[in-house]
Amino acid sequence: MKQNEKPTALIMLFGATGDLAKRKLFPSLYNLYKKGKLERFAVIGVARRPLTNEEFQKSVADSLQVSSDSSENLDDFTSRFYYHSHDVTDSSSYQVLKNMAGELDQHYSLEGNRIFYLAMAPEFFGTIAEHLKHDGLTDVPGFKRLVIEKPFGHDLESAKELNSRIRTAFNEDEVYRIDHYLGKEMVQNIEVIRFANAIFEPLWNNRFISNIQVTSSETLGVEERGRYYEKSGALRDMVQNHMLQMVALLAMEPPIRLTTDEIRSEKVKVLRALRPLEGQEVNNAFVRGQYGAGQINSTPVPAYRQEQMVDENSNTETFVAGKLLIDNFRWAGVPIYIRTGKRMKAKSTKIVIQFQDVPMNLYYQTEQTLNPNLLVIHIQPEEGITLHLNAKKSGKNTEATQVKLNFANKDIDGINTPEAYEKLLYDCMRGDATNFTHWDEVALSWNFVDKISDVWESTKEQNFPNYESGSMGPDAADELLAKDGFFWWPVTDLEVENC
Ligand code: BG6
Repeated sequence: MKQNEKPTALIMLFGATGDLAKRKLFPSLYNLYKKGKLERFAVIGVARRPLTNEEFQKSVADSLQVSSDSSENLDDFTSRFYYHSHDVTDSSSYQVLKNMAGELDQHYSLEGNRIFYLAMAPEFFGTIAEHLKHDGLTDVPGFKRLVIEKPFGHDLESAKELNSRIRTAFNEDEVYRIDHYLGKEMVQNIEVIRFANAIFEPLWNNRFISNIQVTSSETLGVEERGRYYEKSGALRDMVQNHMLQMVALLAMEPPIRLTTDEIRSEKVKVLRALRPLEGQEVNNAFVRGQYGAGQINSTPVPAYRQEQMVDENSNTETFVAGKLLIDNFRWAGVPIYIRTGKRMKAKSTKIVIQFQDVPMNLYYQTEQTLNPNLLVIHIQPEEGITLHLNAKKSGKNTEATQVKLNFANKDIDGINTPEAYEKLLYDCMRGDATNFTHWDEVALSWNFVDKISDVWESTKEQNFPNYESGSMGPDAADELLAKDGFFWWPVTDLEVENC
């Protein structure tokens, strides 16, 4: 599709009364519409509860929380939303949906292009995909695409089963598996920083990098998602997808061109080179944590085990730290540390690339050790890059001091960058699958993570809860780096400064 061409499609949104639809999908579509990126489109909201079109349109409008100056053409926008009360297991319900889709296709001249977006409980993904095929909804003259939210399976085996059910109705290139981290501006920027700068790529290897640290910490707890989270834990919820995707982008070889297939194939190679962990190695390289009570922004918060729909003796981890090794020429010997958790001190996603020390420190005699060079990629909440260097301290001859070169994204663009979902929805409508996860990536990630969950599920962690809400996780996460002579760079001290 050409750069300025506007995509045309009927979007069938399964789970249209759910939280994701309201918080992310409707606002993203409205933003695209206001920016003039969408012209010919319609949405059928699909969910179980009975609603009229008007009631649904009102709920869409309510979710937009528009102010009077940004409610441009709101009526025209919401008039394109229709509703179908659906039973996911009943063919006759799919027939009604099919007829409705056919009429809207005609009415809005949508060229038979269809996007099926599954924003709902994963246990129905397979059933819906099969019905879409058997009941003729995928039988269209235009394109058909399936957008699927995580979790994609619970482990490798269930992911394989789900994949084979989906593949009865859609080809791999028609499946768009969402990992919303891949829609984040600064995650997309990793490739540009690496491959568009002559100064970084020559240093991007085990001769010059001593370690890499990827942190994604949250202050929120499990909220009302206890039922899901009890079965998932931080390993499945964050590591299998978002964390490993960031690692793949950081570690991949330069693709021969920037096409979906070339980029994916380089990411897949990184995941294939991840050193697998077995048995005791899991406990040496990975740390699990669970939050206890504590304070977030001076407000007391309960322990995980006290949250709704959580077992009072739960063994589920809400924090994971781990050391990854990539066995290839570029990365042999460089630890990549990852860390993610709920109810931590700050909401922050950052990547710190720590370069090796200079071969000889000429500045020791001043009783000061040199700070290593760091490249920090700030993913959220602030977006930017900082490069930590050493420079001469003014007025002194032999003293060096740390200076930071800052780039804050919003200083350049002057606007907030679009929400990840807005970009991903648009990419999907335009048929660009680069920032979605290919099946091979999903399978390799599960393969790695399954070994860890096998060990953790078979041994109860006696020390849970082992970190206080509002802290940076259990002590064992610090010890993991200390064993190698490193420490976590404190994310709260690395803020990008607005210039
Ligand atoms: C989701 C997880 O995928 O990512 C949530 O299911 C987590 O548990 C969320 O809170 C974090 O996303 P973000 O964009 O806020 O870092």
